Amino acid sequence: MVIYFTYISKQVNIQCKRYGMTAKTISKTISNRAVSHKKSVVADHISFMKITSNTDHFSTVQRFFKKMLAPIYGDQSKAIDQIKAGLDRVCEVMLKYDNPVGLIVYKNKLQNEYGLKDALELKSLFLFNPAKNSRQGYGSRLFKKIDEVAMSMGTNLIYCTASSKVSNSIQCAIKNGYEIERVLEKNEERTLYLLAKRL
Ligand SMILES: CC(C)(COP(=O)(O)OP(=O)(O)OC[C@H]1O[C@@H](n2cnc3c(N)ncnc32)[C@H](O)[C@@H]1OP(=O)(O)O)[C@@H](O)C(=O)NCCC(=O)NCCS
Repeated sequence: MVIYFTYISKQVNIQCKRYGMTAKTISKTISNRAVSHKKSVVADHISFMKITSNTDHFSTVQRFFKKMLAPIYGDQSKAIDQIKAGLDRVCEVMLKYDNPVGLIVYKNKLQNEYGLKDALELKSLFLFNPAKNSRQGYGSRLFKKIDEVAMSMGTNLIYCTASSKVSNSIQCAIKNGYEIERVLEKNEERTLYLLAKRL
């Protein structure tokens, strides 16, 4: 890391002399490069594991749905049973080394819903421990995996729904190329958005 910053400092000095940059611009450049360095480090040693009731980490998934998602989205027993059965959806856990960091759930067949044709439906995407792992690029890595799944299934269209109750999920999806298609539901408690991405 020290070597990295020394390298960056040298590069910034060269750029500074060449373009006459201000101190503020320089520190922003350093910080941007540090962030992208951090995100590329996060990308190392990442693997994905398909989860069924017989595999490792199923209990982690089950616990997370009950503890974290049920308070936001209501009872998750059906979602857990559907992952267990594995009939219409795939659940993949993202591992950093051998530690579960996040999860995606997606339908195993292309859908025709909300006027979208032959689209991959992303059912869930989250970090197991957002308090510890947020803003390090893990969420974006999960979104990238969904892009790869879509391509392997022969579609360039992905969609999901997102609640205003979890506003950072919408920001993260937009940052990863999703657009708000329309509002699906709106009441005093929350707005439910339909988000879609065209690859
Ligand atoms: C949403 C979630 C997946 C983001 O994961 P993450 O690892 O923090 O995401 P990244 O580090 O890849 O961040 C990508 C971008 O998302 C946006 N973002 C992420 N968290 C944010 C926050 N708390 N506030 C504002 N923007 C945020 C930023 O634009 C960020 O880019 P930046 O760090 O360069 O500014 C994670 O916070 C989470 O699991 N939340 C709970 C469950 C959930 O909301 N799931 C999404 C269902 S669609």
